[in-house]
Amino acid sequence: MIYEQLQKTIDYIREHTDGFVPELGLILGSGLGDFADTLENSVRIPFGDIPGFSVSTVSGHAGVLVCGISGGKKVAIMQGRVHYYEGHEMEKVIFPARTLVMMGCKTLIITNAAGGISPSLAAGDLCLITDHLNYMGTNPLRGPNDSRLGARFPDMSDIYSKKLREQVLAIAASSGITLKEGVYAAMPGPTYETPAEISMLKTVGASMVGMSTVPESLAAHHMGASIIGISCISNLAAGISPVPLTHDEVKETANRISAVFKKLIQEIISGI
Ligand code: HPA
Repeated sequence: MIYEQLQKTIDYIREHTDGFVPELGLILGSGLGDFADTLENSVRIPFGDIPGFSVSTVSGHAGVLVCGISGGKKVAIMQGRVHYYEGHEMEKVIFPARTLVMMGCKTLIITNAAGGISPSLAAGDLCLITDHLNYMGTNPLRGPNDSRLGARFPDMSDIYSKKLREQVLAIAASSGITLKEGVYAAMPGPTYETPAEISMLKTVGASMVGMSTVPESLAAHHMGASIIGISCISNLAAGISPVPLTHDEVKETANRISAVFKKLIQEIISGI
């Protein structure tokens, strides 16, 4: 079912992009969507027009597939995403990530805004995801497995490819961009966490917390893609932040660092 739906979706996208086959895919999180405007020769398709896609209800999430060229490479970008907390089924949440892999992407760069838990993180930092903790209470691959997509019990020991992480860290250093590293904990939302939950996440080894990325990473890696995960630390997490958490703060911080974020993504695309 899903496989056939994906094929229909790919056919639709190819028809509307002159047969575009990307090698690299991106999913851009809250306030980080501007990068898509830097693509050359781009074609934009609103999520609402793409068969099988759902539309996000969250402000700061455009919901457009943008295909084009960056650093000489063919890239496909999901500018915006749909979240589990919006009420979408996991199958819908991961559909765009699966689409990118089925289109041809061997590597996905998945980005998000996240709350900083580790004392080494400050609002405005960029942080490379080394691994994740899935606290969403479900797994997007629950249910029948279609072996045409991937294995029933997929290995996740190198989901955020170590080899790519080393390359990305070297690229950031040579571009003069500070890129920290940390473990991303995914919570279901839509509430921000309580201070006790943040204290628990810190104890179990989380560096940062957010409400996305993990389902998409799991689904894309199931299909054989390597993942580069990047968090923009938009705020300090609950109980650490001196002020109440708001979505406006998340968007403001993302906007503030958007130039350096764009540069980092550009350098990664041309350098890996
Ligand atoms: N918690 C969960 N999700 C988030 C946060 C946070 O503090 N900041 C941005 N997304």
